[in-house]
Order: sequence, then C-alpha cells, then structure tokens
Amino acid sequence: MVAPPKDACSKLAELISVEHLPGDGVLLTVRPDLAPGEEVAPLDPNRFFMLRREDGLSPRIPRPFSIYREQPRTDGPPDLVFMVKVIGDGTRALAESRPGEKLRLIGPLGLGWPSFTEPANETPWVFLAGGIGSAPFFMAVEAISNGAEMAELRDEAAPTPAPFLLYGAGTKDLVYDVDAFAELDCALHVATDDGSFGFQGNVVTLLEKLQADGSIPDKIRIAACGPMPMLRAVERFATANDLECYVSLEDLMGCGVGICNGCVVDTKPEGSLGAWPNAKCCVEGPAFRTDQIVL
Ligand SMILES: Cc1cc2nc3c(=O)[nH]c(=O)nc-3n(C[C@H](O)[C@H](O)[C@H](O)COP(=O)(O)OP(=O)(O)OC[C@H]3O[C@@H](n4cnc5c(N)ncnc54)[C@H](O)[C@@H]3O)c2cc1C
Ligand code: FES
Repeated sequence: MVAPPKDACSKLAELISVEHLPGDGVLLTVRPDLAPGEEVAPLDPNRFFMLRREDGLSPRIPRPFSIYREQPRTDGPPDLVFMVKVIGDGTRALAESRPGEKLRLIGPLGLGWPSFTEPANETPWVFLAGGIGSAPFFMAVEAISNGAEMAELRDEAAPTPAPFLLYGAGTKDLVYDVDAFAELDCALHVATDDGSFGFQGNVVTLLEKLQADGSIPDKIRIAACGPMPMLRAVERFATANDLECYVSLEDLMGCGVGICNGCVVDTKPEGSLGAWPNAKCCVEGPAFRTDQIVL
C-alpha cells in the first residue's frame, strides 16, 4: 500500500489575491497559516494540493491543483500561487472567493515530476503543455535554470540544457499567463487550434514542424500535461520516435492521499509498475512514464 507523503498536512490558508485572466482562468495567491518558525517544506515542481473554501460554498470534497509557482515575501515564507481553469462547482467557488477568505489546503501531495536535472544529461527536455496543463511547468523550467545557475557558480557545465516549452490551447484566451512563461529561461513556442495566437495546430504538429526546420533536435526527452487526447497523441509520437516521455495526469480525485481508489490508472504489465494492474495517480503520480501506464 502506497502511503501519503510524509510532508503533507491539512491547514487553513488565507486567500491573498484573486487575479482573473482572460478567458476562464484565475490566479489564486494563498498564504498557509503557519505557526511561528514553521515553514512549508520545499516544493518540487508538479506536486499538488487539494483546495476548497472553508465557508461551505465549495463542494465538500476539495479539488486537486498543481502548485503553479511560489511568490517570495520579505517577511515570511513564500505564498503559494495556483492557476485554475473554471469548469465546475469547485473551481467556480474558488474563482469567486475574495481576498481574506479562508481556504482548506491539503498537501503537498504526489511525487511531482521526475528530476529534470539529475543525473546530468545533455539531451534537452521538451515540455508540452495543453491549456491549464501548463501549470506544472512553470516551476519545472525554474528548476532547470536554478540548476544551470548553481553549475555556473561552481564553474561546471549546466546539468541540463534550457528546455523548450510548447504551449498549446484552443484559442488565444486559453493560453493562460503566457507573459509570465515568456520571462522564463526556456524557448517558448505557442500553438492554437484556431491560429489566433502563434502556430495554427496542436503542440505535437508544432513539435514536428520545429524538428523539421532544425529549431529542436531529434534527440529529446518529453514531459507533457494536458487533456487526455493530447497525451495520447504525445505518447504515439514518443513511441514512434523511441523517446523517453512522461505524462502528468489531471484525473478526478476523491482523497488525494491513496485511500479512496478514485484515481486509479491501468499499468502496463511489462512496465516497471506492472506487478499490480493499476496505480494510484495521487500517490504514485501524477506523472508517469508512458511505458508504465495505459492512457
Ligand atoms: C494532480 C492534478 C493537478 C491538477 N492541477 C490543476 C491546475 O493546476 N489547475 C486547474 O485548473 N486544474 C487542475 N487540475 C484539474 C482540477 O482538479 C479539476 O478541473 C477540478 O477538480 C474540477 O473541479 P470542479 O468542481 O470545478 O468540476 P466538477 O464539477 O468536479 O466537474 C465538472 C465537469 O468537468 C469534468 N471534469 C472534472 N475534472 C476534470 C478533469 N481533471 N479533466 C477532465 N474533466 C474533468 C467532470 O467530469 C464534470 O463533467 C488538476 C488535477 C489533478 C489530478
Ligand atoms: S484520489 Fe483517493 S486514492 Fe487517489
């Protein structure tokens, strides 16, 4: 039985700000209630928290959201920022909440992404983000640039080259917070289905085009997060080209800590998780290698 992470806890938190993005997105900045001297454990990219309002206006079951980024403060531990797409009751209640309100915050949960910097490897990462699936990539890009900065201080080669981020969505308004991504140390390319912003098409066709014109090398490693049809297309591309590939699943979740079996995903018998026919996305994921699970 896979246990919940040891550093996870359930806390109240204060909502510091709610920033509405164009389209249906919102940025929530949240400050956990901490005892004096208490700190939030360092957060790895793509760990997630279960969130709900505490005033009874959220559904009782909190909803899972990736940590998007941390907002440093001079007078205390950083605030946590979540990027939320409004799709139903839970996300709407969060988006309609006001600064000063109390939220329930359970986490950090899940294992996050695999390390993008260890062991050192010069094969670049290509991050493929679909819509709100961009949220777990902000801190992933930051982690790679931090690794490069540390290496420079030690006069060593960067452990991992700067990544490529291919960010796709249906239309321009669904490319959430793109200006913030544009400031990161990565090669950002945008694609929209309707051509209203960037390349017209999806992220896989954009990747094929960028490889064909030499902007991205053939030998890459892939990490993807987005809707299931996109993840299946990414898996087909990676398998056809014999590429290492991770996908992060945004499954429905009941508990987030391995108890309810609400988030199981089938495993491939020949893969490294295959002794049991399924894995729990909340405690064994949310990211899996594509040779471990059936999408
Ligand atoms: C590990 C993890 C990280 C996530 N990170 C983020 C994030 O950073 N930002 C973000 O906006 N969302 C994220 N999600 C998805 C988010 O949890 C759901 O959108 C949310 O739970 C929906 O709650 P709701 O009450 O608004 O919708 P509900 O009322 O629960 O659902 C409304 C409708 O949408 C469908 N639905 C619900 N969730 C999903 C889903 N994940 N995929 C497809 N259809 C769904 C339901 O079946 C229903 O038809 C993440 C999910 C996981 C598992
Ligand atoms: S969400 Fe309950 S077991 Fe994963």
